[in-house]
Amino acid sequence: MIRKVVIPAAGLGTRFLPATKAIPKEMLPIVDVPLIQVVVEEAVACGIDQVVIITGRGKDAIADHFDISFELEEVLARRGKDDLVRELRRIATLAEVVLVRQGEAKGLGHAVLCAHRVVGDEPFAVVLPDDIVDAETPCLKQLIDLHESHGGGVVALEKMPRERLSSYGIADVASSPAPRTHKLCGLVEKPPVDRAPSDLAIIGRYILPPDVFAHLDRIAAAKSESGGEIQLTDALHALAKEGKMWGLEFLGQRFDMGTPAGFLGANLTFAMKRAPLRAALAPMFEKMAK
Ligand code: G1P
Repeated sequence: MIRKVVIPAAGLGTRFLPATKAIPKEMLPIVDVPLIQVVVEEAVACGIDQVVIITGRGKDAIADHFDISFELEEVLARRGKDDLVRELRRIATLAEVVLVRQGEAKGLGHAVLCAHRVVGDEPFAVVLPDDIVDAETPCLKQLIDLHESHGGGVVALEKMPRERLSSYGIADVASSPAPRTHKLCGLVEKPPVDRAPSDLAIIGRYILPPDVFAHLDRIAAAKSESGGEIQLTDALHALAKEGKMWGLEFLGQRFDMGTPAGFLGANLTFAMKRAPLRAALAPMFEKMAK
């Protein structure tokens, strides 16, 4: 059973400046819900009840978001806005939220390593709030189902056009025993296009066995002299070599929240699912099309 999720949220958000100069990028909204809450809700919908958020300087708004806002609740209650009071209370009690400071930004692998003590010795999920997935069955749930039937670690995969392969971790497939289900023999972080072992890119959803920490420790020790980034993909490669990694081409649409087009696409897609917003937006789209 997967009970814990690690959410790395210590990045600087430079791709979204100036919007992220004074607020964490994880607090940018999809319609009116911050990205960090969207991914926490995805995890909670999968039965996860402990959320480990890896943060750093300037990220206090994330902690406040999952805290009880007594003053705000009181003002809203006095104004008779009971629905909002209930919604704010629901957010503050969604899950047990544990915040761990990353200190130095030494890469995604380092962020995950920071969660070792809180996660302990059990398989866990990792979700990157940069990737938002619109899916009937939550993307993370699809990975958990595969983990439960096949064991080991699982990464979410998406077929990418060749020219974009060097921006992602890429899977090396050993065999594909079922449609969209791949046993992996390796993973390589951001390879040059001509060295990519496939066109299957890692998207920010993972189920990891606790042995990943030993690999990350080893990689961190090797990097302590050169000072390079500790890549999560390198630890996953080691697990794949041990025959412990699977990849799943998930069902759903993924939005890259690190780009304006992905951010706006996600906002429009989720807005159009709400009838009042859909009705308000339709005439605006008509005008734009003229
Ligand atoms: C990270 C991972 C990469 C993965 C990507 C998914 O890269 O290192 O393997 O494909 O997330 O979004 P980043 O985008 O943080 O550079």
